[in-house]
Parts: sequence; structure tokens; C-alpha cells
Amino acid sequence: MYDKGKVLLGLAIFLVLALSVVGYNMTAGDNKKPEPEDAKLKGYTACVKKTDYMKSSHMVLLNQWRDEVIREGKREMVETADGSLMVEKSLQNGCMKCHTSKVKFCDTCHQYASVKPYCWDCHLAPVEPTDGKEAH
Ligand code: HEC
Ligand code: HEC
Ligand code: HEC
Repeated sequence: MYDKGKVLLGLAIFLVLALSVVGYNMTAGDNKKPEPEDAKLKGYTACVKKTDYMKSSHMVLLNQWRDEVIREGKREMVETADGSLMVEKSLQNGCMKCHTSKVKFCDTCHQYASVKPYCWDCHLAPVEPTDGKEAH
């Protein structure tokens, strides 16, 4: 005969452990939705394309810029989506002029999405201010 009490106790312990794993995964920091730094807080009103396009396709635009600049020598500046500003077609001097922190902007999303673009092997990332202090 099975010991009904023990089986039930075992089942209860299993359930508690299983649920705590689920609970841990739901609250673990790694799964928090990324909150990239908002360039609007620095006074910029728009990105170089519509925001939705930038969210999904910024890597496509970057490749396009790279090809135009390197292969076709087209270095003319581009307008922001709302026409408020002209910016350089450049990762370092264009994108990072407004998105001034690679860590607080690009990296927050990329860590979440587990992608590690190799661009920074060659391109310079902005100097990150050390904790609490302004970089000069
Ligand atoms: C003139 C300043 C400026 C430049 C240059 C610029 N951005 Fe933006 N970007 C912004 C602003 C402002 C927003 C937020 C727009 C909004 O809230 O609708 C934004 C939004 C984004 C977003 C969406 C962020 C989110 O929170 O979902 C991505 C991704 C992005 N930019 C990447 C880039 C890349 C890559 C480049 C270079 C190819 C670039 N940006 C160039 C100002 C800029
Ligand atoms: C709103 C979130 C978000 C922000 C902000 C963001 N990215 Fe991305 N990026 C992604 C996601 C998600 C992917 C992966 C997309 C995929 O795999 O289709 C990606 C992929 C890329 C890729 C292609 C890498 C690969 O291995 O496929 C490049 C290059 C890139 N991002 C550059 C940048 C740069 C430079 C910045 C900062 C100026 C930036 N991204 C900011 C979300 C973001
Ligand atoms: C092996 C080194 C190397 C790597 C890795 C690299 N680049 Fe470049 N990139 C260059 C060089 C060199 C130029 C030419 C700079 C110039 O003539 O202004 C350039 C130019 C560019 C330009 C146009 C000019 C500028 O100042 O930004 C863009 C945009 C660009 N790269 C994007 C990317 C992106 C996005 C990645 C990652 C997916 C990447 N690059 C990875 C070396 C590299």
C-alpha cells in the first residue's frame, strides 16, 4: 500500500518548488523590459526616421549609411524625421550625438535581446560619465 500522506506531502513540496522557480523567473531583473535613455530629455524632438522604424530597423539604416558613406562616398548630412535638425550620416557623430550613452541606450536593449553588435571593435563609443560625476 502507498502512504497517501507522504505522496501528498511530496506533491505539495514539488508544487511549492516549481512555483517558486516560476516566481523567481517572473521577478528576475534580466527579464525586465529595457528602458533605453530617452533622447527627448536632452531636447531632441525626433530621430532620423520615424520611431517605430528605428525600433525595428535601426540596424538596416546603419548598414545603409555605412554603404553610402564608404562605397558611394555620399557623406551629405541627413534631416531628422521632423526636419528640425541636420545630422551626420555617422554612427559616432550622428547617432551618438543625440544618444550620448552607449551603455544607457544601445546596451540596455541589446542585453535584453542578447545581441552584441561588433561595431564598437572599431567605432568609438562615447565616453561614459563615471557614477554621479559629470564627465568633462
Ligand atoms: C537628432 C538626434 C537623433 C539622432 C541623430 C538619432 N536619434 Fe535615435 N532617437 C532620437 C529621439 C529624440 C528618439 C525618441 C523619439 C520618440 O520618442 O518618438 C530616438 C529614438 C530612437 C530609437 C527607439 C528608442 C526606443 O526607446 O524605442 C532607436 C533604436 C534609435 N533612436 C536609434 C538611433 C540610431 C541607430 C541612430 C543613428 C543611425 C539614431 N537613433 C540617431 C534622436 C536621435
Ligand atoms: C529599443 C531597443 C534598442 C535600442 C535602443 C538599440 N537597439 Fe540595436 N538592436 C535591438 C534589437 C532588439 C536588435 C536585434 C534585432 C534582431 O535580431 O532582429 C538590435 C540589433 C542591432 C544591430 C544588429 C546586430 C546583430 O548582431 O544583428 C546593430 C548593429 C544595432 N542594433 C545597433 C544599435 C546601436 C548602435 C544602438 C545605439 C545607438 C542601438 N542599436 C540601440 C534593439 C535596440
Ligand atoms: C573592422 C572595423 C569596423 C567594424 C567592425 C565596423 N566598422 Fe563601420 N566603419 C569602419 C571604417 C574604417 C569606416 C570609415 C570611416 C570613414 O571613412 O568615415 C566605417 C564607417 C561606418 C559608417 C559611416 C561613417 C561613420 O562615421 O559612421 C557607418 C554608419 C558604420 N561604419 C557603421 C557600422 C556598424 C553599424 C557596424 C557594426 C554592425 C560597423 N560599422 C562595424 C570600420 C568598421
